[in-house]
Amino acid sequence: MSTDSLFAPFALKSLNLKNRIVMAPMTRSFSPDGIPTDAVAAYYQKRAEGEVGLILSEGTVINRPSASNDGNVPHFYGDKALVGWQHVIDGVHSAGSQMGPQIWHMGVMDNHHSGWVPPVPFEGPSGLNRPGNNNGSAMTTKDIEDTILAYGQAAADAKRLGFDTVELHGAHGYLIDQFFWDGTNQRTDGYGGKTLAERTRFGVEVIKEVRRRVGEDFAIIIRLSQFKPSAYDYKLAANANEMEAWLNPLVDAGVDILHCSQRRFWEPEFEGSDLNFAGWAKKITGKATITVGSVGLSGDFFGAFAGESSQPSSLDELTRRLDRGDFDLVAVGRPILADPNWTKKIKAGQTEELKGFSKEALAELVME
Ligand SMILES: Cc1cc2nc3c(=O)[nH]c(=O)nc-3n(C[C@H](O)[C@H](O)[C@H](O)COP(=O)(O)O)c2cc1C
Repeated sequence: MSTDSLFAPFALKSLNLKNRIVMAPMTRSFSPDGIPTDAVAAYYQKRAEGEVGLILSEGTVINRPSASNDGNVPHFYGDKALVGWQHVIDGVHSAGSQMGPQIWHMGVMDNHHSGWVPPVPFEGPSGLNRPGNNNGSAMTTKDIEDTILAYGQAAADAKRLGFDTVELHGAHGYLIDQFFWDGTNQRTDGYGGKTLAERTRFGVEVIKEVRRRVGEDFAIIIRLSQFKPSAYDYKLAANANEMEAWLNPLVDAGVDILHCSQRRFWEPEFEGSDLNFAGWAKKITGKATITVGSVGLSGDFFGAFAGESSQPSSLDELTRRLDRGDFDLVAVGRPILADPNWTKKIKAGQTEELKGFSKEALAELVME
């Protein structure tokens, strides 16, 4: 099957992409004290030279004292870190690709295996990072207000440095998602509530503030997932109506693109249709969507964390769905981490040159 549709351009507001392939955000923990090094800039530039259309950075945290559980995760605040990011975006632009930082606050976390801890306790809607597991404090209204401002500041800085978009990390059980999920949001004020629609309020206010800071013409992406790392098969929205109640407020608040995170992109979201998450999100909201999850690989990313290897697999099912209009963009994680030239090889039909993924790739940053 032809992969031509993956190489059609895509334009939306500040985005002018040469193809539909997006490098998925992947934490690398190669930024000591939160400062992206020259090696980090070289890592991203190599992927841009490999002709990926859009790069989403690894999650990079906002200016809150306990936004991260890992001292090597990059900051998106402070002069030194922002100079590092300036080098990153300049390198990516020089290689003809576009990029947005993934703006992150982890919320309440388990302590990192390295033993590193932030200077103050983790913060989240109710101090929980999964049902029954308290490892932080419940945010006050003032904490929430300051955090929303910090998201806005990071987005404004991204635009000022020359990034082409921003992605808000609203997935995978981190802060914004902790507000969405009643398993971690037990608040009784206006940021809690029995319905998912009520629990979107924090996310909505973050998006509104980011929109206020970047203006109308700058593309804003939000990443969402139904699953949580502590609950692989969990569905925040159990059916299309609930998904509508979740997504429409986010779209009304000003999001342009929904990045719909799944472990395996081919899995149907609800019974009775083969549409995946990105397919439903586009159908419900009419907005552009990004699909992701084991594109071109045999095994999923949680398997990779557990040390499993994956082999290259066919893109036929992906292109079938793309050609049908289910989604606009396709994010690819591990294949591009392991091989900066993955996009080029797909374009040239060099499938015999594709590598699989094994956990050794995580130990290295730039790679030829
Ligand atoms: C090493 C690694 C780090 C990741 N870090 C992040 C992250 O910082 N933010 C995020 O939203 N997803 C993160 N993910 C998930 C990926 O963005 C992606 O959704 C997942 O790997 C599935 O895509 P793949 O099957 O193409 O690898 C990470 C995945 C890997 C393998």
